[in-house]
Amino acid sequence: MSKLALFGGTPVFNPAARPLEDRWPESSPEDMAAVERVFASGEFLGIHHPEIEALEKELAEYFGVDYVLAMGSGTASLHAAVAAAGVKPGDEVIVPALTFLASASAILHHVCIPVFADIDPITFNIDPKSVESKITNRTRAIMAVDLHGLPADYEALRKVADKHNLVIIEDAAHAMGATYKGKKAGALADVAGTSLMPVKQLATCGEGGIFFTDRPDFYNRASMVRSFGEVIQKDKPRAYNAFTLGWNYRINPIMAAYLRSQVKRLDHYTELFTSNGNYLSEGLRKLPGLIPPFIPEGSTHVYHMYRMTFDPAAAGLDISAGRFARAVEDAMAAEKLPLRLYQNAPIPGQAMFRTKEGFGDGVPWSLPGTNEINYDIEDYPVTLQVLETTRCLGKNGSAGPFYFRNRETMDLYLEAFNKIWDNLDELASYAQQMAYEVPWTILAPSTRGNWVVVTPTKQEED
Ligand SMILES: Cc1ncc(COP(=O)(O)O)c(C=O)c1O
Repeated sequence: MSKLALFGGTPVFNPAARPLEDRWPESSPEDMAAVERVFASGEFLGIHHPEIEALEKELAEYFGVDYVLAMGSGTASLHAAVAAAGVKPGDEVIVPALTFLASASAILHHVCIPVFADIDPITFNIDPKSVESKITNRTRAIMAVDLHGLPADYEALRKVADKHNLVIIEDAAHAMGATYKGKKAGALADVAGTSLMPVKQLATCGEGGIFFTDRPDFYNRASMVRSFGEVIQKDKPRAYNAFTLGWNYRINPIMAAYLRSQVKRLDHYTELFTSNGNYLSEGLRKLPGLIPPFIPEGSTHVYHMYRMTFDPAAAGLDISAGRFARAVEDAMAAEKLPLRLYQNAPIPGQAMFRTKEGFGDGVPWSLPGTNEINYDIEDYPVTLQVLETTRCLGKNGSAGPFYFRNRETMDLYLEAFNKIWDNLDELASYAQQMAYEVPWTILAPSTRGNWVVVTPTKQEED
């Protein structure tokens, strides 16, 4: 039995031998040629550019949707989705408490109010029962997030949405390449947005996003939102007449050209990510108390984040699950194979929600006719439990594509987890004695539930 690196043994991984992470996205000669094509054309306008128009056509075909708009970011595409769905200022949109902030800020960008639902403890996706319990007279939409690369439970969400006449918006930012009942993520709701930034499953060489819908009315609104509220027709004089409030959410044609080339390899990468992720799960399932990501029947998972749950009782240990997860994280760090938290607290725990800062003066929460909404992390017990008792594979700031292309990396993680499981008693003593705080104290080192907003110093402002 080899000694854990945490207690002075030799680490499983030797970073001097090779990098643990692959760079992402991986640029092929064809990707580079696509970028050069844009420079050679000398055309850089983000509207009616041939690369952007071709990309939209190709993506619509690939994803099986009627309309696609390439945009400047995932947040822009989700904001456009909220606008397209006709959600009005002061209306509420239900969104999961575990996601990336941008799902909720896309709602705020349209002066609408995010209302958080708790998540399912097994899939980590939005819990349709919690969604139903959050519906009020002001609810207009549900924003489901395909968290970590696993599509949300759209069948159950559709039942709730139909009953209450709500639009479903899909945040597919983690899930390009995943499928749900044979349909591709991005095509699973009434309208969707996704991110193309360079840690995502489908990434460009910078920032970008995609808006998807089958509804022509949604498409028309979103295309105005993308370009100053105007209808700008190809080969016609510009009318300079805004019909609605719009932004400049256009994509850079260089990003569009690069993505056209990348998307041709999405199936290939997805196959690699899923087969390596499934291989890792098969190995980890043999370790009692280590629960790999769950995949419901009819769905595929692309492992944008690979979240494992730690169950000390199943491992035969008499310690808390939070301590167990933290001790495994420490032991893996010593083996030079990092695990990470992804999000430290439920999103409504972030200071902006606690203080209802928003646009200032409490807008949108202070608008006339709005419901009183309060954000308290204790309202999301499942999210809290998941944050405390799980960890994701990889180091902070990284994601699946950095690791899941490489079977050797899977074997290294398996070797390190097996080594830890061979030394569980020693790890349990460490877990019992270590200083321990729940992950969300990081937001407010003083007291749980009493959040501190840190204001920039004068020097930082300058
Ligand atoms: C779930 C989720 N939604 C939305 C976004 C926003 O995308 P972008 O950074 O491209 O604006 C991200 C990531 O960045 C995300 O992870």
